[in-house]
Amino acid sequence: APGAEEFVPDTTDLATLREASCGCRGCDLYRHATQTVFGEGPADATVVMVGEQPGDQEDQQGHPFVGPAGHLLDRALADAEIDRDTVYLTNAVKHFKFTERGKRRIHKAPGRTEIVACSAWMAAELAVVRPKLVVCLGAIAAQAVIDPAFKVSQQRGQVVSMPDYRAIATVHPSAVLRAPDRTEAYAAFVEDMKKVRAAMT
Ligand code: URA
Ligand code: SF4
Repeated sequence: APGAEEFVPDTTDLATLREASCGCRGCDLYRHATQTVFGEGPADATVVMVGEQPGDQEDQQGHPFVGPAGHLLDRALADAEIDRDTVYLTNAVKHFKFTERGKRRIHKAPGRTEIVACSAWMAAELAVVRPKLVVCLGAIAAQAVIDPAFKVSQQRGQVVSMPDYRAIATVHPSAVLRAPDRTEAYAAFVEDMKKVRAAMT
């Protein structure tokens, strides 16, 4: 697979990038997914939040974080007093990867090849938005943005200095939904979001 590079236009306009991403064939995921789900939010956002890949709802609606994980994220942002509308939200991988089980589409984690193939889109988004802080939601995002060896369990909530921005990682909101003790997992997630809030200024 060629990777996304050849599909990424040389532009500083997010709308142009988004439009071009609809035609990306940088890896095989476009074949079965409904559509590309590009990042959304203000071009001058101080904070970019990066998830893993669109889920079933995102794939159908064409917007990031509009399904169950997105609703949990919304609630945590509100509890940490972060205005979602000021955040640019995107994903490490822009197409939904899944397996079919009957009528249901079950999320499948993207592989290294797809993450690397898709990275040119996120690089382009970060080059346009130039955030102060990048928040990695889960290991896939943290490994794509910070370090392929990043361990969320050991390093969550720590602010890391990168050449162009600071970064911080926490768990993926879906992991909170699946946690055995959801109340505790949610509280820890909100604590990390409060660290994000403190690191925003
Ligand atoms: N999970 C993600 O990582 N991203 C989305 O957009 C939705 C669910
Ligand atoms: Fe292109 Fe990324 Fe979709 Fe693969 S997942 S086709 S690289 S946009």
